[in-house]
Amino acid sequence: MSKSTSAMTLSSDFKDKLSEGVNTCWKSPANIALVKYWGKKGHQIPANPSLSFSLDEAYTITRIHAKLNPNANGPKVSFTFEGEKNPAFASKIEQFLNDLLPHLEYLPHVYLEIESGNNFPHSAGIASSASAMSALALSLLCIEQQLLEEQLDDNSFYRKASLIARLGSGSACRSVYAGFSMWGKHDDFKDSSDNYAIPIDFKPGSLFENIHDTILLVDQNPKKVSSRVGHQLMDNHPFAKARYDQAVTNLSKMRSCLIENDWDTFASITETEALSLHAMMMSSSPGYILMHPNTLKIVEHLVEKRKQNHVNVCYTLDAGPNLHLLYPEEENDKVALIISELTQYCSDGKVIYDTIGKGPENKHCK
Ligand code: PMV
Repeated sequence: MSKSTSAMTLSSDFKDKLSEGVNTCWKSPANIALVKYWGKKGHQIPANPSLSFSLDEAYTITRIHAKLNPNANGPKVSFTFEGEKNPAFASKIEQFLNDLLPHLEYLPHVYLEIESGNNFPHSAGIASSASAMSALALSLLCIEQQLLEEQLDDNSFYRKASLIARLGSGSACRSVYAGFSMWGKHDDFKDSSDNYAIPIDFKPGSLFENIHDTILLVDQNPKKVSSRVGHQLMDNHPFAKARYDQAVTNLSKMRSCLIENDWDTFASITETEALSLHAMMMSSSPGYILMHPNTLKIVEHLVEKRKQNHVNVCYTLDAGPNLHLLYPEEENDKVALIISELTQYCSDGKVIYDTIGKGPENKHCK
């Protein structure tokens, strides 16, 4: 890869290449936000900056076979999810691809056969849009790379993949990177942007290097209020400004504690962010509650046990009832004991063990 400009030219023989068929395959992870994105300005622009880390075990694999559409009235899509054709989703993807026409010049010329699957259960209550949209974005961009005159350099490739993922699902733009990444303009993060995520520009302390995320599945049903509606309800929210200011301040503090290896501050900010996210939901108009009574039982139990046993462990919540327990690798044994007492509050006793991950991978596929 060599070029960094976003105005890329398709190669003169791109139609020949498409006639032969162009393939790609990407594996991309889910992520868990520590400083939460909640609320938008305009089209997929975040109302506040956010920071997350990519997971290792929760991922989507997406394969695309691109063929020439000689009528140039594309993009046309067939979509298979976990072995089953899904025409409803194919038409949603076509709509999304129409939004991408200004970014991917080849799209009118293709039929895309897209196959996708997750390695975590569909109904597990884990957000799949981040892994799905980042895997799709990386795959679409990888097709472009194969049709260009000159290729993007690595930095530009991931930035553009992040921008495309963002247009599909905001939080997905952070999943194109390994480890910790942030999204949204913030004075403490050079090169930060509302348009795409960037990897953090510092090495986190040793406590965070191999951080674990164990997900306690309190409820595996689809949530009652979607994130799309939740973001919209922030538009006329009476506490919106205070919340956006809080996220900016928390991001500065989060940056410092990751650098300084300060677990206590990290835990306190992470938990405040989780509770603020849910406080926004509860104080929206109409208000709603995504936590479950067992979510609160786990929080109570965890807070008591970690104090008694001096364990570095904290929790966060996504837009749902399931608890994410975060802890440094060295606390594994102590946290395992606490988890064994918490599974009574989980649906079918279900727990998913995950850690910080190495980011997306370009897989070979036929
Ligand atoms: O990416 P969306 O539009 O599904 O929003 C998800 C936002 C949270 O997951 C609740 C927080 C975040 O920053 O990931």
